[in-house]
Amino acid sequence: MHKAVPVVAFMALASVVHAQTPAPPLDGAALEAWLKAGHYKQWRSESRPHDSQGPHFGRVRAYLNPVAFESMQSGAKDHPKGTVTVKELYGQGDTVQGWSVAIKTAADSSDGTNWYWYEIFQSKVVKDGQGVLLCRACHLTGRDYVLTSWPLR
Ligand code: HEC
Repeated sequence: MHKAVPVVAFMALASVVHAQTPAPPLDGAALEAWLKAGHYKQWRSESRPHDSQGPHFGRVRAYLNPVAFESMQSGAKDHPKGTVTVKELYGQGDTVQGWSVAIKTAADSSDGTNWYWYEIFQSKVVKDGQGVLLCRACHLTGRDYVLTSWPLR
């Protein structure tokens, strides 16, 4: 019985830390700061960068928040509000040069208009806004707008 105590204490601490992870803001400047702070790095992710199959500047590595991961894992056709995906953009190199982000803002995707889309590469904001046509027009072919191949590799 005694030995279980530290484990329980650790798990309680871990859930507190998790609960304190701030949600990504739906505002370009604040989101950029959130990305730079690396909050998403504790999420599940692809194991390493790989060549993008899309127009995402070269090599990429996707991260899924717990809502996104559980929804993909369960095989759900539609993801819940609060689903967040972040993709690190590496260009042709080995260091992060930007990010793509998709945040589901309502239960119904509504042709991708209920997703907030954001992309920044080499310090230049490519797109930033709710329902960006360029992004949703291509992500339309994914599982409720998520295109990362599953299971994560
Ligand atoms: C022409 C197709 C295309 C366009 C346009 C596009 N993407 Fe993607 N995106 C992809 C593909 C394919 C993937 C899967 C991973 C990969 O191969 O890069 C992906 C992956 C992602 C991911 C990781 C989660 C996921 O859905 O797999 C995010 C986040 C993302 N894109 C954001 C954006 C944003 C923001 C825009 C608009 C600025 C955008 N994408 C435009 C094709 C596209």
